[in-house]
Amino acid sequence: MNYELFKMRYLSVFYKDEEILKALSDIHLKGNWYDLDCTFSKGNFYKNIEEPKLKSDLTPLREDVIKSNSSSLQFIDDGSLKSIVFDPPFLFRKRKSINNDNQSNFYTYFKSYEEMIDMYKASLDCFKNKLTKGGYVFFKCQDMTDGKFYDTHTEIIKIARDLNFILKDIAIKVCTNKQQRDAKQQNCVAKVHSYWIVLKKGSLTTRHIQVNKSIIVSEPQRMPYELK
Ligand SMILES: C[S@@+](CC[C@H](N)C(=O)[O-])C[C@H]1O[C@@H](n2cnc3c(N)ncnc32)[C@H](O)[C@@H]1O
Repeated sequence: MNYELFKMRYLSVFYKDEEILKALSDIHLKGNWYDLDCTFSKGNFYKNIEEPKLKSDLTPLREDVIKSNSSSLQFIDDGSLKSIVFDPPFLFRKRKSINNDNQSNFYTYFKSYEEMIDMYKASLDCFKNKLTKGGYVFFKCQDMTDGKFYDTHTEIIKIARDLNFILKDIAIKVCTNKQQRDAKQQNCVAKVHSYWIVLKKGSLTTRHIQVNKSIIVSEPQRMPYELK
């Protein structure tokens, strides 16, 4: 039997981060593995797959993880990384928490949406300097609901494009064990998914074309060309 016939294309929805990391490496890094995970934590992503060459975190939980802020990464030379995995905290509380979401007890969280977005922006700015030309960021993020809907993933894409990253791909991770509130308390659908946003460092000659307020970013052109 010719098993080549049964080779599947990767689809956009996954149930495990490790499957996403494998797929994104195959597709975007052509099978090369990840250079750095700068929010490594316990390394849950890598229980069944190879760990990245370099691992760092603001609060390392293992001896082989370097202590470093993702917005500075001073232990990395500029222009030296081909790929960075980034899975920052995505929760924030403007006030005392009133929901039963026990994720906030486990993960660190920001004081406000603005503080979170500032951290994401400073980190992407740093990644831009640390990456080689054409290097990749694999950014795991989640839209937040705390009585209100915050479309974090669109804000990240906007910031990344302003920093001259090219949006190359989006994969969706479905979460199967999320606690749900009573439907009467809902202001929007409960989020049971997160995003893996794939960003490629663009060159100075990356061409931006603005069409009906949405921005399409294409590969580098011969002449520098920027819209206002
Ligand atoms: C959602 S957890 C990452 C979980 C990890 N992907 C895993 O598989 O175990 C977020 C991590 O980001 C780290 N972190 C928060 N702020 C940071 C910063 N400014 N620089 C680097 N790491 C930071 C936290 O210490 C935490 O370990």
